[in-house]
Amino acid sequence: MVIVCKSVQDSGWLAMRQALWPEAMRDEHIEEMMSLLEDSKRYGQFIAVDDAGEPAGFIEAALRYDYVNGTETSPVAFIEGIYVKPGHRSQGFARQLVDAVTDWARAQGCVELASDTGLDNFVSQDVHKALGFVETERVVYFRKCL
Ligand SMILES: CC(C)(COP(=O)(O)OP(=O)(O)OC[C@H]1O[C@@H](n2cnc3c(N)ncnc32)[C@H](O)[C@@H]1OP(=O)(O)O)[C@@H](O)C(=O)NCCC(=O)NCCS
Repeated sequence: MVIVCKSVQDSGWLAMRQALWPEAMRDEHIEEMMSLLEDSKRYGQFIAVDDAGEPAGFIEAALRYDYVNGTETSPVAFIEGIYVKPGHRSQGFARQLVDAVTDWARAQGCVELASDTGLDNFVSQDVHKALGFVETERVVYFRKCL
């Protein structure tokens, strides 16, 4: 079952976020979660729950108005993060979460759902393909300190 995140206290959301993005501090997570909840037209976030009611994974998506590599429309819905707890993997939770975001994106009027992942994250690449995504581009980011 997939539920919509309605509060920063929603079971497991913060802990799973910290597991996916450990570099951010707890307060940063909470501040970001609050800002996501304030704009439900632009941001969609969902938690998958197992049969025992335990949180199994989460997904966050946003409408992106700037150009998104490999897409043809604007805004597009973009998967900002997806995570399933190690003990819950390969049981279809990512599929349920992507289905929920797909419904949300359609309801916002989007006709494209985009995503990205690391060049070395082969599991995520395989999962994206299994869930109907088609690879579009590979990019290399640069930075110059000023
Ligand atoms: C990527 C991730 C979310 C997948 O979650 P999951 O719940 O295990 O995925 P599902 O069980 O829903 O599987 C979805 C599809 O991908 C396939 N798949 C799942 N795990 C796979 C693996 N390790 N290798 C290849 N394919 C895989 C499944 O077979 C399924 O396709 P099917 O329905 O046609 O059989 C999970 O591995 C994860 O949280 N990884 C760490 C975080 C991460 O890398 N997130 C993505 C980048 S932000």
